[in-house]
Amino acid sequence: MRRNKITIIGAGNVGATAAHWAASRGLGDILLLDVVEGVPQGKALDLLQSGPVDGFSNRITGSNDFADLAGSDVVIITAGLARKPGMSRDDLLAKNVAIVKSCAEQVAKHAPDCVLIVVTNPIDAMVYTAFKVTGFPRERVIGMAGVLDSARYRTFLAEALGVAPRDVNALVMGIHGDNMLPLIRLANVAGVPVTDLLSAEELAAIVHRTQHGGAEIVNHLKTGSAFYTPGLAAVEMAEAVLTDSKRVLPCAAYVEGEFGFSGCFLGVPVVLGDKGVERIIQFKLTDEEQKAMAESETAVRKQMAATGL
Ligand code: LMR
Repeated sequence: MRRNKITIIGAGNVGATAAHWAASRGLGDILLLDVVEGVPQGKALDLLQSGPVDGFSNRITGSNDFADLAGSDVVIITAGLARKPGMSRDDLLAKNVAIVKSCAEQVAKHAPDCVLIVVTNPIDAMVYTAFKVTGFPRERVIGMAGVLDSARYRTFLAEALGVAPRDVNALVMGIHGDNMLPLIRLANVAGVPVTDLLSAEELAAIVHRTQHGGAEIVNHLKTGSAFYTPGLAAVEMAEAVLTDSKRVLPCAAYVEGEFGFSGCFLGVPVVLGDKGVERIIQFKLTDEEQKAMAESETAVRKQMAATGL
């Protein structure tokens, strides 16, 4: 039986960590691709050698040759610069747009049927770049961010409540930036609304911490940004595609009228299956939530204009 093939472009912290999570979950054969000679090969070999201990038997290889993308079912683009303290994600745009463009060209050439997941920042503009450059249908180009932001939100809620993080259900929509929208009214612990359990002040502090969750880690690390949860979030999405699981995950998807927005990528809940985005789940937002989404859209469009595409 043919095994799934997952290619991760960019063998830096996020890419290598995504490879690690994907191997550990036994998602399929993994190719780590990077322009820096030796790095993807060395990391892939190191990861491969953890197989006997961790119990996986995937093929894991590293390469500098983009022709090796051929046959990929899912491609995850992580290549690009990470921010440092004092920088916003938007400060990465000019450099990362060139990197994502060249990666996307290679994906379109060598893996024209894959589902493409984009992790490079600023994500909403980089996924738009990949969408434009590949010419893939909107179903097959998806940005990672909602899984990461929602995981942060769930973590902070769980900490405040003293409960297991996995029992907290919560959704973050909109841009992967300061204007993101952690929905308070829908957050719950095993079905119990968090608004019944935490004060408005406590919830406001958690929302604010979630919106600035990436910067909090950048300020600790000083030399780069988060990678464990971004890598896992991308793999969670890849797994939903590869297993056709119909999981509902918040992702940056190209909207065509959903929630009243069109022609841009925004974080929304989507059903993921083997074709990629099967459907965006729409529901009625309150006026305040709709306004926050409009602010996200404005910020995304500013980024899109800066890509020059
Ligand atoms: C994150 O949210 O951790 C990533 O987008 C990296 C960053 O620059 O914050």
